[in-house]
Amino acid sequence: MSSFFDADTFTAARERFGVIWGRPVRVLETTTSTNDRALEAFADGTKTGAVWLAQEQTSGRGRRGNEWKSAPGENLTMSLLLRVPGPSARLVGLSLVVGLAVREVVAAVIPEGRVARVKWPNDVFIDERKCAGILIETRQLEGDEFGVVVGIGLNVLTREFPPELTHATSLLREGAPASKLAREELLARLLFEIESRTKIFLPRGLAPFLADLERHDCLRDRRLRVDGREGTGAGIDASGALLIRDDDGALRAVASGHVELG
Ligand code: BTN
Repeated sequence: MSSFFDADTFTAARERFGVIWGRPVRVLETTTSTNDRALEAFADGTKTGAVWLAQEQTSGRGRRGNEWKSAPGENLTMSLLLRVPGPSARLVGLSLVVGLAVREVVAAVIPEGRVARVKWPNDVFIDERKCAGILIETRQLEGDEFGVVVGIGLNVLTREFPPELTHATSLLREGAPASKLAREELLARLLFEIESRTKIFLPRGLAPFLADLERHDCLRDRRLRVDGREGTGAGIDASGALLIRDDDGALRAVASGHVELG
């Protein structure tokens, strides 16, 4: 366990970044899903900023009922617990904001020439391959409070992926130097990027992030198919919907769906 994550090294990195979140970080050798651990912690009053980190998940999950596979001990598999005041509508777009945060961390460690982008609604790509996925799960708590669990799987050290994960990659595979891939440092950076953006997003929504989303949109001007319908990516609107230009020129906004690149 000690080579996987060292608490003192993390605390030093967290302090260097001036991050408040990440207190405590619970490091688990194996668990079903770090999101499960965070979701059950709402019941015991756990406060905003608590993090769960696992070496191995036995039932890691992704969006749309997909399984999240991550080789034990190689990656960053984490969940962050937040308590936010309602209404829940203010959370729409949070996965994009977290995506921007993850993208920033990825961009800081990959070599020049590689490009990190956000793929609507919850992935981070390096060029044509996915290096991270985000799964946000919410619960209505007492009063008008909402419980939010931000689950992130970031592929760090994996070199070989199972054959079915044809579009997966990791930071190491894309040429990031091992010296930049210490999990303690990556987690502290990640929390810094998420914390600073979330504190703007919760009161103000997506508007302050639209320019960044435009700049780092993996789907912009790409041929794509959403749930069977083809078109061209035309950006992300202020409600977090994906804009698609149909072949007849009409613009439509898609609030949810699965995107396949053409
Ligand atoms: C996706 O790409 O569909 C989202 C994947 C999210 C995976 C992370 S790993 C940590 C947390 N625990 C889970 O079970 N899922 C998220």
